[in-house]
Amino acid sequence: MKKTILITGGAGFIGSHLVRLMVNKYPDYKILNLDTLTYAGNLENLRDIEGRPNYTFIKGDITDGAEMLRIFREHRPEGVIHLAAESHVDRSISDPLAFIRTNVIGTVNLLNAARELWKDNWEGKRFYHISTDEVYGSLGTTGYFTEETSYDPRSPYSASKASSDHMVRAWHHTYNLPVVISNCSNNYGPNQFPEKLIPLAINNIRHNKLIPVYGKGENVRDWLYVEDHANAIDLIFHQGKNGETYNIGGNNEWTNIDLIRKLCQVMDKALNRKPGESEKLITFVKDRAGHDKRYAIDSSKLMNELGWRPSLQFEQGLEKTVKWYLDNEEWLNSVITGEYANYYAQQYDNR
Ligand code: NAD
Ligand code: DAU
Repeated sequence: MKKTILITGGAGFIGSHLVRLMVNKYPDYKILNLDTLTYAGNLENLRDIEGRPNYTFIKGDITDGAEMLRIFREHRPEGVIHLAAESHVDRSISDPLAFIRTNVIGTVNLLNAARELWKDNWEGKRFYHISTDEVYGSLGTTGYFTEETSYDPRSPYSASKASSDHMVRAWHHTYNLPVVISNCSNNYGPNQFPEKLIPLAINNIRHNKLIPVYGKGENVRDWLYVEDHANAIDLIFHQGKNGETYNIGGNNEWTNIDLIRKLCQVMDKALNRKPGESEKLITFVKDRAGHDKRYAIDSSKLMNELGWRPSLQFEQGLEKTVKWYLDNEEWLNSVITGEYANYYAQQYDNR
């Protein structure tokens, strides 16, 4: 059956892995990638599939409601998988409004466009909103976020994502829009923009630059390989129940400092350095404002109801990721000039 699926944010980190998966796995689907190409969007991420007959790129900004309506009317998608967002917590601390515009207003524009297009026939339609575990707040040393955990967002980023989750549920309850939401833990893997911890550290280590670890490095994150997230999205999009939420996590908790030490070992090996050499670059810097202590996801609902499992051990995933960045220096070099250089100086000089 021919199906048209609109994926927003498909030129970004997770979006590009999802677009590739869908284009390869569903040759009968028409996959539309809607992205405005901010600093985080990069069509290089999709060079290998750009000529495929079931793939179309549409440049468009989700903050423009009229434009969204026009695109929905022209392309008539039956499904939407919404990933477009401002995604970096540190940037949300210095420019919160950008996050409200894209993550909240942008999401409402898409909900309105989907409602307008589908209102006479909801059959076979689905609006899938991709969210984050950060909406649940911060954990102490024990416990996990479940789908029932109350929302308690604490950064402008997580508050904007929580707000967009509420909007999606409101459109479901008020207008019957068929929706599904998932909340995932920290992703890592190829094509992640080097503002995020793992690719930032890889980039700094290869240039023998200091690795900035916030505070004492004791904050805990639950890491999941990006392709495992993309597989979960595919499963939930096709088999998730209308109106439900699914948590996605790696069951793979690391303090930042342990993770960076592990990464240094992998980098020493990959760069033929003496064991312990990269670790000398670790430097503790001023903490992130309002830094959430610990995130940990209980993904038993997704595992039990839909049979999802993460496929990679963390060590394997980290080695694959390091190899990708070292094999794709051109990609990395092309994204660390210009805007990134200014961002890095503002964020880390004198920290
Ligand atoms: P990313 O920053 O790498 O990519 C975001 C993409 O959205 C970019 O291609 C960008 O150009 C596009 N975009 C931004 N503003 C837009 C606009 N106004 N109109 C159209 N496109 C726009 O983000 P990511 O890390 O791939 O995250 C994707 C989604 O997954 C986000 O919604 C994020 O909240 C969520 N998420 C991310 C993680 C993670 O660890 N990275 C974990 C859980 C959930
Ligand atoms: O949990 C899911 C979220 O994970 C996603 O919703 C976000 O889009 C994604 O950016 C990520 O948020 P984090 O803030 O956890 O990721 P980040 O890579 O920015 O930071 C990971 C941890 O490392 C965090 O505790 C802060 C710390 N850190 C980060 C950077 C960039 C450092 O110690 N030094 C750094 O330079």
